[in-house]
Amino acid sequence: MQAKKIAAAVVAGITALALSACGSPAGGGGTGGGEKTTFRLAFNQTEAHPQFKAAEELGKKLEQATDGRYTIEVFANETLGSQNEVVQQVSDGTVDMMYIGGPVMESFNQDFIVFNLPYVFDSPEAQAKVFADEAVMGDLKKSIEGSKKITVLGALHAGVRNVYNAKKPVTSPADLAGMKIRVQQSDSQVKMIQDMGGVASPMGQGDVYSALQTGVLDGAENNETVFNALKHDEVAKYYSYTRHLMIPDYLLMSTEVLNKMDEKDRTALLELIPETIDAANKGFMEFVEESKAASEKTGAKFNDDVDTSAFKAATESLVKASINNPVRQKLYDAVQKANG
Ligand code: GCU
Repeated sequence: MQAKKIAAAVVAGITALALSACGSPAGGGGTGGGEKTTFRLAFNQTEAHPQFKAAEELGKKLEQATDGRYTIEVFANETLGSQNEVVQQVSDGTVDMMYIGGPVMESFNQDFIVFNLPYVFDSPEAQAKVFADEAVMGDLKKSIEGSKKITVLGALHAGVRNVYNAKKPVTSPADLAGMKIRVQQSDSQVKMIQDMGGVASPMGQGDVYSALQTGVLDGAENNETVFNALKHDEVAKYYSYTRHLMIPDYLLMSTEVLNKMDEKDRTALLELIPETIDAANKGFMEFVEESKAASEKTGAKFNDDVDTSAFKAATESLVKASINNPVRQKLYDAVQKANG
């Protein structure tokens, strides 16, 4: 953790202590007796992000729906730690909720891989259709409640990911030869960049800027919002539309904390999730456009002259090899059906 994050985490800890001292325990689950519980929700991006705004709105609506018994405080900018760190705390119930990128989920249940594979979803609409279908998603969302005590409340659109680097526009896999590209922390992401022609370097999102700045990395791959909000556009200005991924984020909650709520309050929370996801997804499209315009102003170069079919062909064997059990096949078939 960087110094800034440690300081913020200390502040967050003090806030939590102060809250429990006045009868508002964070991470405590249902309390009753007129007490107010403030769920802490960890987020690794900025306050401008639609997922942040949707989570704040969720907190307000939850407070109304539970007559003030529950609300949510959102901790942005990785102040509670990187996703890899925080997910352990959600597992032990010390952080109540978080947004997390799909690849991190693979370490808990490999079947999450299906949605993290290159060129799987044809459109955000197809993705939203799959994620809204409980017959498809229900078992996956509950799959780590027993082993990790983590409940997946929902899956969200998190943009289309493209490659960017400090050296040149990328048009084909050969352009990535020898380039160290940051990926999210999972085997599928490492293999994917290797197949796309680059050298994969897995790391948490918060460390990417300085790695790009110091030349430890040549580039990364992400959507336009991270490229701009985390100032990667300052240090790796060539952004090329490989459109290789549409990886979801998930909204997670500690299963124990969720189960401690009384049934009425829990139902109120669960009923608010679809509209929360909808709001975050709708805001995302606009946020992409704003981010791209802002990056262009800083001198970033967006390149749409990319041989995406070459990248797709290069990664096909990874997709095939990963769909290797009936659970994944069922999820994959649902995606194909939604693609139309
Ligand atoms: C996206 C995604 C995050 C993820 C990040 C990353 O921004 O929304 O959940 O952490 O990519 O590349 O690490």
